[in-house]
Amino acid sequence: MRAASFLFGAAVAVASVQAAIVPHRRATTCNGHAELCDRSYGNVTYLGAHDSFAFSEDPFALARDQEVDIPSQLGLGVRLLQAQAHVKDGVLHFCHTSCALFDGGTVEDYLKTVKTFLDANPNEVLTFIFTNPEGASLPQLWDPAFQNSGIAALAYVPPHLPMKQSEWPTLGSLIDSGKRVVVFLDAGADTDRSVPYILPEFEMIWETPFSVTDATFPCSVDRINGPLSTEDHMYMINHSLNKDVLGTGIIISDPKDAPTTNGVPSIFAHAGGCEGFAAGRAPNFVLLDFVNLGQGAKAVDQLNGLA
Ligand SMILES: *[C@@H]1O[C@H](CO)[C@@H](O)[C@H](O)[C@H]1NC(C)=O
Ligand SMILES: *[C@@H]1O[C@H](CO)[C@@H](O)[C@H](O)[C@H]1NC(C)=O
Repeated sequence: MRAASFLFGAAVAVASVQAAIVPHRRATTCNGHAELCDRSYGNVTYLGAHDSFAFSEDPFALARDQEVDIPSQLGLGVRLLQAQAHVKDGVLHFCHTSCALFDGGTVEDYLKTVKTFLDANPNEVLTFIFTNPEGASLPQLWDPAFQNSGIAALAYVPPHLPMKQSEWPTLGSLIDSGKRVVVFLDAGADTDRSVPYILPEFEMIWETPFSVTDATFPCSVDRINGPLSTEDHMYMINHSLNKDVLGTGIIISDPKDAPTTNGVPSIFAHAGGCEGFAAGRAPNFVLLDFVNLGQGAKAVDQLNGLA
């Protein structure tokens, strides 16, 4: 009897010590700012890297859209990574237009690099918008890359689809739940729902036109899917400026323009032109080429009302 109550008392003592040293985890800083913890995921602006895998320091690598690698992009504040997948020898790779032009390696290796960042930065919410131009199988090619990298375990599964912009949980609750990676695919996830965390992009996000060669970035709703209204979608401004190479009709992104294109005035002008489609809201995603040039992070902080 005495032994039993001693054991009971010891168990209570151990439990209360554990409760004291392992409190219910509650993030106080989210994506670098306390103010963002109580904001809905759908009410935050994120800095995005277009063709994040297509980085090279070589100025003659014309198919590059970035100069710095993935860890450096994340270090600069990028929280949306965009990339384009192609199948090479039966394996999913990130490649620009074709793997012969620019091969960024396997999707699995790319995701492992990102996982290292996520493990070291537990209070960060990260989004992927991947394109699937060849319609690669979700269960056979995409899911294994996410599972093997460890990122599938961190991926958020919404309670229903499509989610309105206003329905997303807060950054704080995504972080507290450990499900702090949001994965969108442009094609395939609308018809194949067998991988629940791979979400159909255009049912929830609309995009401005791509391959823009007009430096004033006139806004229009380019790619979108129903059934939600435009205003109930989140939206991405595709803010990269392309140039025709010597009148050949081949367009490339030129880092010489990036300091201006990625400057606060240019990003704000583009965002301002779009807000009418979004009940006055700022863009959710500001997708840039050459994120190391210009003031992308500063513009995003200002759009979030933080600076
Ligand atoms: C978030 O909400 C505020 C207040 O309504 C708004 O000013 C801001 O533009 C919104 N941002 C986004 C990305 O929805
Ligand atoms: C954004 O623009 C680029 C080039 O202008 C285009 O290749 C890309 O598909 C567009 N959309 C996304 C999500 O990157």
